[in-house]
Amino acid sequence: MKLNGLSCFVIAILLQNNFTSAFLNLYLSLSEVQRLIGLVAELYYVRNGVVNDYALNYVVPIPSKIDALYFTWESLSNQQTLPYTIITESSNLQALPTPKLNISSSGNVPTTVQTFAVSLPCSGTVSAEVDIKIIINVTISRDNVTSLKFQRHKICFEYENANTYVSIDSIPAYSNSANIFYVAVLCALLLILTLAIFVAFYYVRDKKTRRPPETSNGPTTTFLASLPRNSINTSSYGSFRRMPSYSLIDERSKDLQERITELTVQRCRVRLNSVIMEGTFGRIYEGSYTNEDGQEELVVVKTVTDHASQVQISLLLQEGMAMYSLNNKNILSILRVSIEDHTAPFLLYPHNNNTNLKIFLQKCKLSAEGVSHTLTTQEVVDMALQIIHAMQYLHKKHLLHKDLATRNCVVDDQLHIKVTDNALSRDLFPSDYHCLGDNENRPVKWLAIESLLHKSFSPSSDVWSFGVVLWELTTLAQQPYIEIDPFEMAAYLKDGYRLAQPINCPDELFAVMAYCWAMSAEERPSFMQLHVCLQEFYAQLTRYV
Ligand SMILES: *[C@@H]1O[C@H](CO)[C@@H](O)[C@H](O)[C@H]1NC(C)=O
Ligand SMILES: *[C@@H]1O[C@H](CO)[C@@H](O)[C@H](O)[C@H]1NC(C)=O
Ligand SMILES: *[C@@H]1O[C@H](CO)[C@@H](O)[C@H](O)[C@H]1NC(C)=O
Repeated sequence: MKLNGLSCFVIAILLQNNFTSAFLNLYLSLSEVQRLIGLVAELYYVRNGVVNDYALNYVVPIPSKIDALYFTWESLSNQQTLPYTIITESSNLQALPTPKLNISSSGNVPTTVQTFAVSLPCSGTVSAEVDIKIIINVTISRDNVTSLKFQRHKICFEYENANTYVSIDSIPAYSNSANIFYVAVLCALLLILTLAIFVAFYYVRDKKTRRPPETSNGPTTTFLASLPRNSINTSSYGSFRRMPSYSLIDERSKDLQERITELTVQRCRVRLNSVIMEGTFGRIYEGSYTNEDGQEELVVVKTVTDHASQVQISLLLQEGMAMYSLNNKNILSILRVSIEDHTAPFLLYPHNNNTNLKIFLQKCKLSAEGVSHTLTTQEVVDMALQIIHAMQYLHKKHLLHKDLATRNCVVDDQLHIKVTDNALSRDLFPSDYHCLGDNENRPVKWLAIESLLHKSFSPSSDVWSFGVVLWELTTLAQQPYIEIDPFEMAAYLKDGYRLAQPINCPDELFAVMAYCWAMSAEERPSFMQLHVCLQEFYAQLTRYV
């Protein structure tokens, strides 16, 4: 149970002990990924029986010139046969007839590595965007079927003009967005650069409207002329020191060992089911935990792979323990931890159908394409109020968050929000963190000016970050200050520039954000004032509905 027992761990052993699905690999080979996306990587949908939901849920766009897809699979189980059935569907049979397979539509998953083809040529009789589904059911045991659904999106062109059909690049309207999407696919699937891509996309799209024009005074200007420019001075630091001694969350580490011991459970009580998110070394799984009374509950498990360094492991534990033993309906605190020699630690959190708020918001953004849910202003304000509630609680406990952002919140189907710790966020949302010369990877674009310049934190610096969260809520989690180089952030803020008012963001709400970004910490509102103010605005909204 000791921390130093972690120096050597083998994720493979841990996975084999814990997963429950069939022993199966299903992936796209190096050459297939290279052909589809132009990069050299294997892409696993199922690895050793663990399903990568994130990859599976991604709708992959298929260039119109590609007429077949190749999947590779293999059963890893010697004793047990794995029967499968496959069906394919096309949303527009006229443009693209039901895709055909070169393996039987039912049989046993081969015990040697096998590649099969799904052919999906366009008919050429009509132009249309076609959604293709490939559904593979694998029977693990009697009446226990894992259903894997692959979604693909293909643009078909009418065949009258053979040249346009073959060369997608000659059709500028499609080729641009298509290229952005191919890149986006790989990045999303590997979860390394996803955000950067969306960012690039929005940057290109919104560049003109969002870059602050030096002389503009229109409604989208980011220049807050009324804010005092030179309020960072020694006296305002003096006032930070006079505040009650807030322990910085991640510095309560002296009793870390004790707290871990208190929460420790045996590894055999934890089972991993599927990957929810994956970074270069961090992994978030959906899993289950059998408690002392023998009851099973769904949990979210944060852990790392064997690429993680000792430092990354200790950081995971330290940050994961930050919300230890806090009890508030708007805070997600750690439930259990499981540490065993030679394996990576598992941090268990209650599941409650939560999803990451940032990812949730970005899915809302796609609502035009028929995905998910559109948010009303009222819902946004309600979410903001819940975050305020959590922050008031934290501050009452004399804790500072220091990394408040939508990526560090979760949301459920009823839009209940919980603020959580930032364990693994640097790895899972790499474009939200930057190094400014030193070795510290910081959420530069969320930091208050004094935190950025002097690493000084206070309740008011959490208020600043809350302002950015409000901006994220109203832009459906766009990247803040996308056009600003992280190294220039401090100068940019000192010059009085701030985030622009999002399109469709009510003036009242933008005024609240702008107050949070006052140069001087004393001029920023307290969470108490924010609460009153947003509550009032919420009441106004409901009155008119
Ligand atoms: C299906 O087609 C692909 C490519 O033509 C080939 O590599 C593969 O061996 C085929 N699979 C079967 C089971 O025939
Ligand atoms: C696959 O399984 C799902 C649910 O388990 C079921 O609805 C569907 O009909 C199955 N499809 C095939 C091809 O067996
Ligand atoms: C499927 O099998 C796994 C383990 O083999 C088990 O945990 C799970 O509850 C089963 N699901 C159903 C629906 O029977």
